[in-house]
Amino acid sequence: MPSAKIAVIEGDGIGKEVVPQGIKVVRQAARLFGIDLQWEEFDWGCDHHARIGRMMPENGLDRIAGHDAIFLGAIGWPTVSDVESLWTLLMPIRRNFQQYVNLRPVRLFDGVPSPLANPGLIDFYIVRENNEGEYSEIGGRMFPGMDQEMVSQETILTRFGCDRVMRFAFELSRKRKRKLTSATKSNGIIHTMPFWDERFRAIAKEFPDVATEQYHIDILTAHFVRRPSSFDVVVAGNLFGDILSDLGPAVTGTIGIAPSANLNPERRFPSMFEPVHGSAPDIAGRNIANPIGQIWSGAMMLEHLGAKDAADAIVTAIARVLASGENLTPDMGGTGSTASLGQAIVDALSRRPEALRHG
Ligand code: IPM
Ligand code: MN
Repeated sequence: MPSAKIAVIEGDGIGKEVVPQGIKVVRQAARLFGIDLQWEEFDWGCDHHARIGRMMPENGLDRIAGHDAIFLGAIGWPTVSDVESLWTLLMPIRRNFQQYVNLRPVRLFDGVPSPLANPGLIDFYIVRENNEGEYSEIGGRMFPGMDQEMVSQETILTRFGCDRVMRFAFELSRKRKRKLTSATKSNGIIHTMPFWDERFRAIAKEFPDVATEQYHIDILTAHFVRRPSSFDVVVAGNLFGDILSDLGPAVTGTIGIAPSANLNPERRFPSMFEPVHGSAPDIAGRNIANPIGQIWSGAMMLEHLGAKDAADAIVTAIARVLASGENLTPDMGGTGSTASLGQAIVDALSRRPEALRHG
């Protein structure tokens, strides 16, 4: 891969601590594999809101639309309502840039204790629909403050939206174990979820070589805990996918390591890479946040940009450092810091570049 231009948004809270570690590791990988990366920082977030009254400038999206990727930390801080902070920064990026796939790997690494006694080998992907579903602007409030106060919020599923994310999940399954699980709740949610199942069956016909199964979300969460090693690719709507993508990583020990790729698979717009975790105001500013979710997101970014070998090298370095048990942050039972863990991964990357380069 020749070169790429990356928009960096550290955002809020621990985003400001983990993003520099992510950049440090990705830079080192880029150096080792001969990739030219240019980074442009955007100071958008709740501090920007305090200064200027907006999370990002009015022309914010235009300013990053031409970049090859967006590397984001986390958005949200108690001084700004979540509706304001997320729906004027994170959501506009996900939606306007048609990042309709939220790809979230779940993997148990040696050295990270799982809360399960016998977790087995856990290595699967959640493919979360990222543009519609329960996350909709359709709805409202009537009679505010009165006895008959009421709210409603509509779930929006479109054939177009279901089909494209399902096709992505089937394609991914084809590159893996050819087994795809769909999360549903068509026994209780009687309009949208039967439609989801219908589209799943229709798209499955295009992929006769992929085995399918579907579970209602309630029992699926139980299976995530009882037999997480049985999953390979799980496709879910926006809300179920959100929930599953915290539960999956929790079963692997900590959501601090979990990455995500908000993908526009057609590459008409930049894709965005951010950890699954949020800005964590409770631990912000203490240099104890786990940087691996951010660093691994950086690996997913390199892979998306066409540098799979560099991406693999980062994941291998992460695995090596975790297995060593050194520098682990408190969420993994260690006493390491954000910076020391990030540095350990840089060092692990650099140690055997030749071996890494050739496989
Ligand atoms: C995530 C987050 C967001 C989401 C929040 C912050 C709106 O939880 O990326 O998983 O629900 O998508
Ligand atoms: Mn979430």
